[in-house]
Amino acid sequence: MSKTQTDQALFEAAEAIRAKAYAPYSRFSVGAAILAEDGKIYSGCNIENAAYPQGNCAEASAIAAMIAGGARRITRIYVTGPGTAPVTPCGGCRQRLREFANLDVTVISHGVDGEPLVQTLEQLLPHSFGPEYLPK
Ligand code: THU
Repeated sequence: MSKTQTDQALFEAAEAIRAKAYAPYSRFSVGAAILAEDGKIYSGCNIENAAYPQGNCAEASAIAAMIAGGARRITRIYVTGPGTAPVTPCGGCRQRLREFANLDVTVISHGVDGEPLVQTLEQLLPHSFGPEYLPK
């Protein structure tokens, strides 16, 4: 199936930064590309650490780039990784996305040797807790 121009741009951004991933321990390089409310694409890769729990996921890196770039809301996100199975965001990253994305935002998970899986954030994180639950 042919990708839209937006998804092609997000795919290419995710793949470009995946090539820069620092994943010497898992050897599982992941890239994430966010289309933000400002129309720009912010990308990030996973960054592992010898103290394993200190590693960062690609999605967390992409969110950091978006915030550093001055944007606040995610419009669409594309995640790429190796293999044929869709590389879906981990549980922690689903919650990280929840902070900056509406539940109807599209999340595309793509093991690049297979087909992309297109879901909403709500499908990935049903019955979720978010910022609006906290008193202002
Ligand atoms: N990883 C991500 O960066 N994002 C995901 O959605 C799944 C997993 C990373 C974490 C770790 O560096 C490697 O993939 C193996 O789990």
